[in-house]
Formats: sequence, structure tokens, C-alpha cells
Amino acid sequence: MKRFTYIVFSVLMAAIVISACQPQTEQRYETRWAGETIEEIVAGIENQIGGFDQTMMETGYRYNELYWAGMDGNWGYAEYQLEEMLGNLEKGFVRRPEREASAGQFVNTAAPQLMATIASGNKQAFMESFNRFAASCNTCHGMEDVAFIQVIVPEKRTSLIRY
Ligand code: HEC
Repeated sequence: MKRFTYIVFSVLMAAIVISACQPQTEQRYETRWAGETIEEIVAGIENQIGGFDQTMMETGYRYNELYWAGMDGNWGYAEYQLEEMLGNLEKGFVRRPEREASAGQFVNTAAPQLMATIASGNKQAFMESFNRFAASCNTCHGMEDVAFIQVIVPEKRTSLIRY
């Protein structure tokens, strides 16, 4: 009986050792386009979300909306657009942290100054502040080697929102 227990124990131990030595097969997933392994899926989604160009396309849209909101004296919409723009910029820095340093003057000076004029509801002050705001966009473009992207104060109304 002792011998039998010994054999059972040995077989069990051998089974445990053999199973522990098996190479781990990588978990594979079925997705529509993102890939099969976890690395492929993450890379696929990251690639689709895009980099800083996507952030800036949204920035351009909000910049235009913000300007016409100010021209209309629609201060609620102006505040909304500036807040969304800054929130979107933060998300862009998560994807491209190396860009953040160049945006210091924009985030810490130009944007808060513009926000203060929105809060004051003074259209003249808004227009003056907006000029500095636009220049601050271009300062960052210069620092980030895309000086060929020069934004201007909007000339032609394209906003769909009326107040
Ligand atoms: C980090 C500093 C930074 C700030 C601040 C910044 N930009 Fe940019 N912008 C960039 C960079 C970098 C690019 C080029 C995108 C890339 O290389 O992926 C760019 C590109 C753009 C583009 C072209 C996007 C495209 O691909 O079509 C527009 C439009 C734009 N910026 C508008 C603005 C406006 C308007 C502001 C201010 C409200 C602003 N940017 C503020 C860095 C900045």
C-alpha cells in the first residue's frame, strides 16, 4: 500500500512539473479589424485614434466656433468652446507628451486671459485678447517646427450656431 501511494504521488508530481514547463500559448481574440493578440489590438486602436494632427483638427474647429461665439456675444458658447478645446488639448498631450512644453504660454497665459474676457462679457476686450490668442497658437507652431501652419483671426463666418 505504501508503494502504491508512492507511485501515485510520483505520477502527480511529474504531471505538475510537465504542465508547468509547457510554453504558454498567447490568448487570441476575434476582432473586426484591430488584430488578434493584445499587442496588435492596442496598436491597431492607437493607430486609428491618431496623433496630434487629430487634436489640432478639432482645435481648428473649436477656434473658429469660439471666435464667432464672441462676435455674437454668445458667452456661454464661447466658454464652452474654450473649455472643450483645452480638454481636447490635454488628451493630445497624453498621446504626444513631447509637445506639451511648447504649449506653456498658450495654456498658462493666452487661454486664461481669453477666458477672463469671456467672463467679463466685453466684446472689445474679447477681440483684443483673441488676437493674442491666435498669435499664441502660432508661437507653438513655430516651436514645434510647423511654422508653415499660421492661423489667422477668422474672416468669413462658417459657424452654424447663431445666437
Ligand atoms: C503644442 C503646441 C500647439 C499649440 C498650443 C497649438 N498647436 Fe496647432 N499644431 C501643433 C502641431 C505640432 C501641429 C502639427 C500636427 C502634427 O504634427 O501632428 C499643429 C497643427 C495644426 C493645424 C493643422 C491640423 C491638420 O492636420 O490639418 C491646425 C488647423 C492648428 N494646428 C490649429 C491651431 C490653433 C487654432 C491653435 C490655437 C487655438 C493651435 N493650433 C495651437 C501644435 C500646437
